Amino acid sequence: MTENRVLVTGGAGYIGSHTVLSLVQSGYTPCVLDNLCNGSMAALERVAELAGVQIPLIEADVGDANALRRVFAEYAPQAVIHFAGLKSVAEATARPLLYYRNNVSGSVALLEAMQQAGCRTLVFSSSATVYGDPAFLPYTEAHPIRPMNPYGHTKAMVEQIIADCCEAWPQLSAVNLRYFNPVGAHESGRIGEDPQGVPNNLMPYLAQVAVGRRDYLNVFGTDWPTPDGTGVRDYVHVMDLAEAHVAALRFAQGQVGLQSINVGTGRGTSVLELIAAFSAACGKQVPWQGVARRAGDLAMYYADASCAEKILGWKATRSVEQMCADTWRWQQANPQGYGT
Ligand code: NAD
Ligand code: UFG
Repeated sequence: MTENRVLVTGGAGYIGSHTVLSLVQSGYTPCVLDNLCNGSMAALERVAELAGVQIPLIEADVGDANALRRVFAEYAPQAVIHFAGLKSVAEATARPLLYYRNNVSGSVALLEAMQQAGCRTLVFSSSATVYGDPAFLPYTEAHPIRPMNPYGHTKAMVEQIIADCCEAWPQLSAVNLRYFNPVGAHESGRIGEDPQGVPNNLMPYLAQVAVGRRDYLNVFGTDWPTPDGTGVRDYVHVMDLAEAHVAALRFAQGQVGLQSINVGTGRGTSVLELIAAFSAACGKQVPWQGVARRAGDLAMYYADASCAEKILGWKATRSVEQMCADTWRWQQANPQGYGT
């Protein structure tokens, strides 16, 4: 086999679509399996336009064993990048069974299909949320795993399932990428984040205020024990994150066993600092008001990103200013996301 075929579950979503583009540009041949519950065909059409190749889309649920069997038979992927999952902490708290079925059972079905097909390489979308309340900062990969909500539990459970499979199946090679806070858009402004309904996350909310879809940003707490009283996170540009997947895939294809790796910049940015950077990028002050803390939030966390550099040879190169500029280019050109 000469082609380097990769199955990308959830590839029509935010991080998946950017990663599909990076994969093509790095010589891989991706195909996407997505049920489009939070992704869009338009995202993949635009990826195809940027990449200059068509991206096959199999519209199916990752928990559908028959669909998976057909995909492995038809496309014979040598590796899988597994993004397909639901990601709202609030929704997971209200509907835990939906999250366990979608995120955990879906991953089990995928691993079964991989085993049946003899596909031995997996990169999984995990999250810094698996660490929970920081015992120390920056979080290293050795930080205790103690998630604080059902969404975080699903990520920790899938990591455990993958670890158990690596023990039982010595040829398996897996990388859990623990993302910090992915933001930004491809520099073309053609693909970006398009949340349905009211955005849960800071950057897309800021962008929608700046473009006039919302009046002002609510800042959840101005009395946190942080330098300016607002929450601190490690924002990572989605194209840096996409490139981390390519690096993780190359690494995984050359070894066996399991690695868990933080994907962040190692730098913390407060809510007020991000508002200032975004205001500079869009050329106007983004209006905001302080409100009560959001339940379940943490004051501050950021990555020790040294493991990714050592093991994958990857490190984030894009600045917070670039994250804001690229988000703004995408939002301004697509005020209603892919809907316009
Ligand atoms: P997204 O919602 O934009 O993308 C997820 C994609 O998976 C969507 O296209 C959706 O339609 C698809 N999908 C969901 N359930 C599916 C199922 N059962 N079968 C088939 N397709 C399904 O989200 P994203 O931000 O691109 O996140 C991708 C992955 O990264 C998720 O697993 C998420 O939990 C994880 N993650 C995201 C963040 C973040 O802040 N964005 C942080 C850490 C981890
Ligand atoms: N924030 C606001 N106003 C908003 C949205 C967010 O002030 O409208 C603040 C939050 O309080 C926090 C910071 O901006 O201090 C970042 O919040 P996000 O919602 O953008 O990101 P989180 O760090 O809360 O959540 C992210 C992912 C989750 C993941 C979680 C834990 O989106 O999927 O990290 O790792 F579970």
